[in-house]
Amino acid sequence: MGKDVIIALDFESKEKALSFLDQFAGEPKKPFVKIGMELYYAAGPDIVREIKARGHQIFLDLKLHDIPNTVKKAMSVLSGLDVDMLNLHAAGTKAMMEAALEGVTRPDGSRPLVIAVTQLTSTSQERMEGDLLIREPIDQVVLHYAQCARDAGLDGVVCSPLEAGKVHGACGETFLTVTPGVRFADGDVGDQVRVTTPEKAREIGSDYIVVGRPVTQAADPAAAYRRCVAEFVG
Ligand code: C5P
Repeated sequence: MGKDVIIALDFESKEKALSFLDQFAGEPKKPFVKIGMELYYAAGPDIVREIKARGHQIFLDLKLHDIPNTVKKAMSVLSGLDVDMLNLHAAGTKAMMEAALEGVTRPDGSRPLVIAVTQLTSTSQERMEGDLLIREPIDQVVLHYAQCARDAGLDGVVCSPLEAGKVHGACGETFLTVTPGVRFADGDVGDQVRVTTPEKAREIGSDYIVVGRPVTQAADPAAAYRRCVAEFVG
């Protein structure tokens, strides 16, 4: 599995997402893209089929979290969409993650990559202790959830690029780290707090970087994407 840049398609409609992707029509390699809840709930599964038909690899970022049987059945439906990567919340427990893998595996044994969300980056130590009654240091909680995901058979986790080295240390080099929070050295940080450049993310060991606004809001998105690939993949 090689390193790659994933563009976050954070658009509210099918039209906006597709007209954005039209700008990559001339690219030799169609970018790997992430479809999140906003676009999926607005445009439905057809947007996945249409973008797939244009030749893009797809990370469907729906963060499933429910009882094991429900997640298994939902994953079984999603496996029919032929996406390349799916995710769920490790907080659903190993039983839920194992059920997800059973559901997503097709009759021929193939399946998309499945990765876990550990603690959301919007969850602070204080909220985790006060709201969730989890009293351990958040770094340890993230690593523990990552190990549970690995033990359940998942392929990796979503994490900060700054945590990618530690996750590999705890879960092995082949356990994937998919990392948002990436900015160009000379770019706007926006609302992200802990950010890293594509080059630094590569050095720390990210396997995939997820990049949204530095590409989607760029004056020339195809050029910004190429720059990301050059800095991250080399
Ligand atoms: O525009 P930007 O590069 O900040 O977009 C990052 C993408 O990664 C968004 O789709 C955001 O929801 C997602 N993400 C994140 N931080 C996480 C998990 C997902 O920024 N911890």
